[in-house]
Amino acid sequence: MASNYQAPRGTFDILPADGRMRRRIEATATAIFARAGYEPIATPAFEDTELFERGVGRSTDIVRKEMFTFEDKGGRSLTLRPEGTAPICRAYLEHGMHKLAQPVKLSYAGPFFRHERPQAGRFRQFHQLGVEAIGTDSPLADAETIMLLADLLGELGVPGVELRLGSLGSPPARAAYLEELKAHLRAHEAELSKDVRERIEINPLRAFDADDEGTRGVMESAPTIVERLEGEDADHFAEVRALLEAAGVAYTIDPTLVRGLDYYTRTIFSFVCSELGAQSEVGGGGRYDGLIEQLGGSPTPAIGWAAGIERIMLALGEAEEAPGRDVFLAVAEDGREARARALAVAAELRHAGLSAEVDLAGRSLKGQLKHADRIDAARVLIFEADGSAQLRDMRSGEQRPVEPGSLIEAIGGERG
Ligand code: HAM
Repeated sequence: MASNYQAPRGTFDILPADGRMRRRIEATATAIFARAGYEPIATPAFEDTELFERGVGRSTDIVRKEMFTFEDKGGRSLTLRPEGTAPICRAYLEHGMHKLAQPVKLSYAGPFFRHERPQAGRFRQFHQLGVEAIGTDSPLADAETIMLLADLLGELGVPGVELRLGSLGSPPARAAYLEELKAHLRAHEAELSKDVRERIEINPLRAFDADDEGTRGVMESAPTIVERLEGEDADHFAEVRALLEAAGVAYTIDPTLVRGLDYYTRTIFSFVCSELGAQSEVGGGGRYDGLIEQLGGSPTPAIGWAAGIERIMLALGEAEEAPGRDVFLAVAEDGREARARALAVAAELRHAGLSAEVDLAGRSLKGQLKHADRIDAARVLIFEADGSAQLRDMRSGEQRPVEPGSLIEAIGGERG
């Protein structure tokens, strides 16, 4: 039964085997966020294009090449959200959240859209979960948010995870550093790749990302911002490191760490997984102390991160097995009444917190037992034509009559 249509390039269907693992990832994250007081927020799937141009930055790959932008019927330019931080800052301003106790600690999960070349771990519609702590410049917030992502990856059992930490300094320090870096690149122009050479003025930091030998050679002797941190920037970074160390979170300093969004200031970080190929980052983020102001608010420091659900799933590898059922309700002889009773009892059992299924396909008793086996039901409740019921233990094969009035007790009591 092939269809004439396929999911669009770079997108995918989430089938039940994947859906189960997603549910576990989201449930684990939700519990971790709730325990730390990061309240849920959700923003629309699309926003004014200008929000991302201003927020994410016009020189970034995301804004230059990767946005799904369209005009609505009123001629407004809208864009499917490529990321969640600018929209959340927009919501923070729109709803006057600066009047709440600061910082406002938020968490989110949902689909995001980037028109990238699809490959393993890189999609055009993907899913992120993340947190933002808005309204504090305390290094405690940097350390806390980083610890939440470390906890999430740890609790999920993501193998081979490494935390890379860096700092971009504050804007004036960064500007001075960028001039120094540009001078270094210009002095070695002939050895650089064409791509890097053309972007010395717009985005010199990208040179650290290049993989051609010539550029790499030049970058080995390039100055790094981490070496140039001074004053409060240096103190902030030292305190974040000390807090992580005190909490036993392992990290490596990566002086060449760069991120693909323009709003970052000071702390940036990236969790990479050795099990993944080219797209090895499972999650990352950093401070964005200037973003709210950039969007028209008063200066409001903030920090957060997002993790890619698909990347986490790839790193975890195996699909989650279907869970067994507590009970399957079968009818010995086909008949409307017996089936109605089975359905009503199934509902009661579900209300009592048990997993219970009935036959929806009109199978014979033999077919029902076979199906119960297939879905790994621990026991089967068989309704006889005379109104009596038998409870069969599918592991031992033992079968015994049960009183209709004490079905829940009979089954609930033996749950497991
Ligand atoms: P980002 O680094 O662009 O940051 O994306 C965060 C994560 O989303 C990545 O580490 C990766 O796991 C996943 N991801 C990104 N693009 C794709 C893709 N095309 N396919 C699959 N997964 C992808 C942000 O989006 C920032 N908003 C994070 C942040 C929050 N910074 C501060 N607060």
